[in-house]
Amino acid sequence: MKGVILAGGLATRLRPLTWVTNKHLLPIYNKPMVYYPLETMKKAGIKEVLLTSSPDHAGHFANLLGAGEEFDMKLYYAVQKNPKGGIADAISLAKEFVKGEKILVILGDNIFNFNLQDAVKDFEKKEKGAMVFGVRMDTQSRQYGVIELDNKGKVISIEEKPEHPKSDIAQTGIYMYDSRVFSFVESLTPSARNELEVTDLNNFYLKDGTMTCRIIDWWIDAGTSYDELLKANNLVAQKVKNGEL
Ligand code: DAU
Repeated sequence: MKGVILAGGLATRLRPLTWVTNKHLLPIYNKPMVYYPLETMKKAGIKEVLLTSSPDHAGHFANLLGAGEEFDMKLYYAVQKNPKGGIADAISLAKEFVKGEKILVILGDNIFNFNLQDAVKDFEKKEKGAMVFGVRMDTQSRQYGVIELDNKGKVISIEEKPEHPKSDIAQTGIYMYDSRVFSFVESLTPSARNELEVTDLNNFYLKDGTMTCRIIDWWIDAGTSYDELLKANNLVAQKVKNGEL
């Protein structure tokens, strides 16, 4: 299974911090943000990772991370021409890299310490399908995709930032796909915010009856606001000091 980390976008919500640098290079306690998804990939046993970023910033990641030696993996880079083309657009850049294998996608601003190794092993054994990872949130936030499950844990719906969330489960930025993902992306059309949405992509698998979901206990999307960025810094500092991260 191969890994894909998305580090594009414009991060307008974090300006002026992101006028001249990329959000995923900002510090989270003692490391640049992008280190966290890279370390998660490593812990999950992924040996080859493609990192996608915008034309202005792809070179900065190459300067920082090189060929991936520090993480004991092979690191490759792809440039997303339209930095705001959408998460599914960025995923489509991995088609040649993936060569028919399954993929683990992690959004570069997502921080969590759930070990994905078992989920990766289980998913590799599956003939086909996709997997999303959800977190139960205290408040029904409208900042995230929302996953609805039935009482047996089967996925019933996934909606992107709905006005009236059908559950308290936020869709994290961790996704696993079979190699059909690239043909599904080709059928997508841009959303109201002019992006190829990951939630529309996930709905292909839902209709196909092959979407599954796992719940993890904590997770932070550090890129949504100054407050979330600050929260991520404080939480990571605390977890590092407690030996939990
Ligand atoms: O973090 C979880 C949420 O991520 C999910 O709950 C949502 O369903 C999903 O749509 C996404 O929502 P956001 O609005 O938070 O996505 P954002 O635009 O912040 O982008 C998420 C990451 O993907 C970020 O690290 C930058 C990267 N990205 C984004 C876009 C739009 C790219 O690499 N290229 C892009 O074109």
